Amino acid sequence: MSHKITDHVTWVGKIDWEIRKFHGEEYSTHRGSTYNSYLVRDQKAAVIDTVWGPFGEDFVQNLEREIDLDQIDFVVANHAEVDHSGGLFALMRRIPDKPVYCTANGVKSLKGHYHQNWNFQVVKTGDRLSLGAMDLIFVEAPMLHWPDSMFSYLTGDNILFSNDAFGQHYATSGMYNDLADQAELYQECIKYYANILTPFSPLVKKKIEEVVGFGLPVNMICPSHGVLWRDNPLQIVTQYVQWAQDYQENQVTILYDTMWDGTKRMAEAIAEGIVAGNPGLKVKCFHVARSDHNDVVTEVFRSKAVLVGSPTINKGVLSSIAAILEQIKGLRFKNKKAAAFGAYGWSGESVKIIHKLLEESGFAMIGDGLKALWNPDEDALDQCRAYGRQVADALK
Ligand code: FEO
Repeated sequence: MSHKITDHVTWVGKIDWEIRKFHGEEYSTHRGSTYNSYLVRDQKAAVIDTVWGPFGEDFVQNLEREIDLDQIDFVVANHAEVDHSGGLFALMRRIPDKPVYCTANGVKSLKGHYHQNWNFQVVKTGDRLSLGAMDLIFVEAPMLHWPDSMFSYLTGDNILFSNDAFGQHYATSGMYNDLADQAELYQECIKYYANILTPFSPLVKKKIEEVVGFGLPVNMICPSHGVLWRDNPLQIVTQYVQWAQDYQENQVTILYDTMWDGTKRMAEAIAEGIVAGNPGLKVKCFHVARSDHNDVVTEVFRSKAVLVGSPTINKGVLSSIAAILEQIKGLRFKNKKAAAFGAYGWSGESVKIIHKLLEESGFAMIGDGLKALWNPDEDALDQCRAYGRQVADALK
């Protein structure tokens, strides 16, 4: 399948309707994904990015239906991660001497993955590659989200090929942002940002300011996953600026796991207390072991506070809580408050452990946390409600 985007640019990627886990098992892709690759034809022809390895051979066959491979003059690898470079390996077997344009870190990553000495041409921000009437201008984007990442900008058609940035794991037949289901599109965009880009937010803001500073007109933003932004393409840039600035909504997220429902009952009573203390606050509760962790992280991203609860087991916390706390720590959220809670029967270490982990992860802690002995009775649940009110007060 291919799709003509402009007179000069053809999408030659892959819509992957089936994928449900990405990055190994780390990222859920409820709505599939796409690997966007682009063929740019002027007096010279360039391929920008490819597809994930399992689709590599199909990609090359598909590309061959569009162009004689020998007519390809340049290959641009904006990013070496295998979801974009898997097809490069298949393509370079057919055109081994053609130059591959990428950053210096791109050479290291591509060699690290494929152990090949392709004809690498290292580019830096501002370098231009003439295709004839049109140029490709390269912009390094280190740590957005790998050291090798870069953007390519096509003059004439004024298209920014942004690779992972502004992308979404979202398979859609419509291909363009204005043809997509807007609620689904927003959800996949924010999930992608929350789970992948949050730690790099300071760099996101700086990079956007830098690119906007070039004053280049942008008719379209074509990322390497999901829809192509053609209708008001800068809307996703504006959205990223907002998300990059310690984003939060008027929301509290309560995460818990539970064995005999003690910690669950605490979570629900705390939620009642929060709503009683501030009816305007949105409160969402998640049984973490039964919830998709990437969806949970997305809700944490939207929150001004997160409460985490686990009963004590073997002087520690339940494994789902340990896992989500590890994920949250790595994402380095800023400007959020947090608190710990949990039921216990004898030693009762869980609250202290969760409190410490949240504190170490950069959250401003509300109080010392709340414990309930055995299964909470009405008095204990009243304490939970009062604790919820205290949380609501702390967020005023
Ligand atoms: Fe879509 Fe960083 O790869």
